[in-house]
Amino acid sequence: MSDLLIAAAKHVRENAHAPFSKFRVGAALEDSNGRIHTGCNVENATYGLTLCAERVAVFKAISEGARRFRRVAVVADTDQLTPPCGACRQILWEFCGDVELVMANLSGAVEKVRLGELFPRPFDSSFL
Ligand code: THU
Repeated sequence: MSDLLIAAAKHVRENAHAPFSKFRVGAALEDSNGRIHTGCNVENATYGLTLCAERVAVFKAISEGARRFRRVAVVADTDQLTPPCGACRQILWEFCGDVELVMANLSGAVEKVRLGELFPRPFDSSFL
């Protein structure tokens, strides 16, 4: 259910550590057992070590033993819905494949796309 997933992403967004950009993002992944794994962005004074909300959610989920995912929600406070950055698209593809991606904001706007629409012709383990 994407409403629950969006609510989880909104909730975890409150924990964002974004003192530099002030841009707070929350992400939530639903795994194949229906369990929800969340993440917020965590910035660093060196900037480059910042981790996006999506990658935090994926790495937390993998670390908890989850391996298959049904959908991903990303929430930010932007009129134009915020999509995952390039690095996060690569990581999401690696672990979630062509998953349903739900983008939402705080005003109730929601858009659903497949990751493959945002990330065509990915490099993945099939090339190795
Ligand atoms: N950010 C995310 O967490 N996810 C996105 O989809 C876009 C960008 C974070 C990284 C950084 O902390 C801040 O937003 C501004 O780029």
